[in-house]
Amino acid sequence: MRIVVVGATGLIGRAVVRAGLEAGVDIVGLGRHDCDVTRDREAALRAHRPDAVIFCAAATNVDAAGNGTRAVNVDAPGAWSRQVATWLLSSNFVFDGWGPHAPSATPRPCNTYAAQKVEAERLVLAAGGHVVRVGWVHGPGGKTFASTLPSRLARGETVRAISDVLVQPTRAVDVARALVLLPRGVTHLVGNADTTWYGYASALAARLGGKVEPVRLADFGLDPRPRDARLWPATLPGWHEGIEEGIPR
Ligand SMILES: NC(=O)c1ccc[n+]([C@@H]2O[C@H](COP(=O)([O-])OP(=O)(O)OC[C@H]3O[C@@H](n4cnc5c(N)ncnc54)[C@H](OP(=O)(O)O)[C@@H]3O)[C@@H](O)[C@H]2O)c1
Repeated sequence: MRIVVVGATGLIGRAVVRAGLEAGVDIVGLGRHDCDVTRDREAALRAHRPDAVIFCAAATNVDAAGNGTRAVNVDAPGAWSRQVATWLLSSNFVFDGWGPHAPSATPRPCNTYAAQKVEAERLVLAAGGHVVRVGWVHGPGGKTFASTLPSRLARGETVRAISDVLVQPTRAVDVARALVLLPRGVTHLVGNADTTWYGYASALAARLGGKVEPVRLADFGLDPRPRDARLWPATLPGWHEGIEEGIPR
């Protein structure tokens, strides 16, 4: 069984390749320079002949989603899944309203990024592929709030953190280890402890220094976001277990 990971230079893609190699899986990671998923599908499938593709490539800036991101976020996973067994990384943001949300719950996207994820999920599932929803993932080298937080606090920065949205921070390595097992159907992979970004950042600041200011979502000036996109079941280690890992030594 050969697995190809596309988007393999991103936070989750990198962790998946590493987890696969550690588990002895025949796994190949392709970054955007090796394989632009919107253009290079045929060549990549011919060259690597995968039995499964883990689709980590995406335009992930939620506030920049629009017509320009459809090709990578919707059309590409749809096209790949019609040719090869595909595991699509999707997002807790497909849900609005109050969580925790079960895999069978009906998605209700509240912004363009989330609507594109819902569309991609439907295409991939219709083609017989699989969907793995994640949220609030952090790890070394990532660009997410949680990934960059430790170094910001360690520099003594004052960090504004949203205090009225529930989150389940999850380590990329834990997502990756579960993902290389290729779970079937629609699967939720999140940490099993709830907090807010303010709660998470305050716990880190207590160890690292820096200051954290609570901010309400409505005052943050972002595109609409779900207030409670928690996923169920939450089977991965909770954020208390992962928090030491993010602290620079
Ligand atoms: N991290 C989270 O908290 C989180 C939460 C919910 C869902 N997800 C989903 O999980 C997946 C992976 O996210 P991530 O956190 O690893 O994001 P990331 O660090 O931004 O990685 C995304 C990767 O996709 C690549 N990419 C973009 N356009 C591409 C294209 N046309 N062809 C090939 N590669 C392309 C990017 O390359 P460049 O760097 O060159 O642009 C980047 O390496 C995404 O579907 C994301 O929506 C993540």
